[in-house]
Amino acid sequence: MSRPSRLTPLTRRLPDVAELAPLMRFAPPTLGRKARLARAADVADLRAIAKRRTPAAAFDYVDGAAKREITARRSREVFDSVELLPRILHGVAAPDLSVEIAGARSALPFGIAPTGFTRFMHAEGEDAGAAAAAAAGIPFSLSTMGTRSIEETAAASGDGDRWFQLYLWKDRDRARDLIERAAASGYGALLVTVDTPVAGQRLRDVRNGMTIPPRLNAKTVVDASYRPEWWWNFLTTDPLTFASLSDSAGDLPSIINGMFDPTLSLRDLEWIRSVWPGTLMVKGILTREDTRRALDVGADGLVVSNHGGRQLDRAPVSLQALPAVREEAGADVPIVLDSGILTGEDIVAALALGADFTLIGRAYLYGLMAGGQEGVRRVIELLAKEVEVAMSLMGAATTADLTPASVRAPWLEG
Ligand code: GLV
Repeated sequence: MSRPSRLTPLTRRLPDVAELAPLMRFAPPTLGRKARLARAADVADLRAIAKRRTPAAAFDYVDGAAKREITARRSREVFDSVELLPRILHGVAAPDLSVEIAGARSALPFGIAPTGFTRFMHAEGEDAGAAAAAAAGIPFSLSTMGTRSIEETAAASGDGDRWFQLYLWKDRDRARDLIERAAASGYGALLVTVDTPVAGQRLRDVRNGMTIPPRLNAKTVVDASYRPEWWWNFLTTDPLTFASLSDSAGDLPSIINGMFDPTLSLRDLEWIRSVWPGTLMVKGILTREDTRRALDVGADGLVVSNHGGRQLDRAPVSLQALPAVREEAGADVPIVLDSGILTGEDIVAALALGADFTLIGRAYLYGLMAGGQEGVRRVIELLAKEVEVAMSLMGAATTADLTPASVRAPWLEG
């Protein structure tokens, strides 16, 4: 029988108020964007700020996914299920986070994913993303559904690396025009998205009545009343348009379905290969079969992606699809991974399991909504620090030191 343990009483003394003085560091309250962002300790904090400051329709468009959002939820669980293995005493002072991708060196192992409607999230939109990416030395991807033109974004990105994302499109003349302009404006890679023969069913958008331009009704006016800065920015900057599409307006599925053509096939991808001179990456690969088909038509690289869970709900989690895609593609094909990355540890897990590079979509937009360009800068800074600390603790001097042996996950075994 165990004996009850006796508590050792604390020895007390009378408090000395003078000892409190050196502990008191009340800085004057700092207000404004910079201070708000500096207090965000991770992407989840930026998401919380973004949610407070952005109308629900715009926030939910970013935060939401298709149908019951099962793929999006599973992605979080799968990334969280990966154990990162520490390696002690490897003498790594400051790991080198840079990566060679699409013919250029990125300072960090992640870039900014293509996102549509970006100026709807925050008036600074693509200009902010492109400028912050260039300042950090990482690539920025402009979406065909972006709200700045190819040329405007090239100007914002300056001498930064930039990629252009194209949907397989029924209108070849329009596609050719965009491809030629992207090549002329110094975009180094073309990401062709192939997982969008039709728009995914985004139920939050249906419930919010999300349209471009936003529709004012009693609900949106109430919602606007406590997001005055967003509305002020929206009303005092140039009108929101799709810079690369014709004058599209309306609800999202109508816009998207007006562009895409479910009858498009590999032949259309072959055509793009014949007209695009730079690096061609096929985005939306999750299976061995599609890996083979994309490489057979001449893709230079692959983007393993489930479109952030925004297309086919219950599609595989990109991280779980990655090992088979890597095996099928072989060691030398550049593989980029996106969909679900919210932390530096997620990036490290993806690199360990076979990706050469990663893209952030939602994480970038949370930063943008939280604080424009300064917010994007903060996301990049937070993720870079997280990658650096994880690599140091794992004894990885370079991203090449991250291999499948660096991680463990129940779903990887057997
Ligand atoms: C566009 O590509 C989207 O996912 O909304």
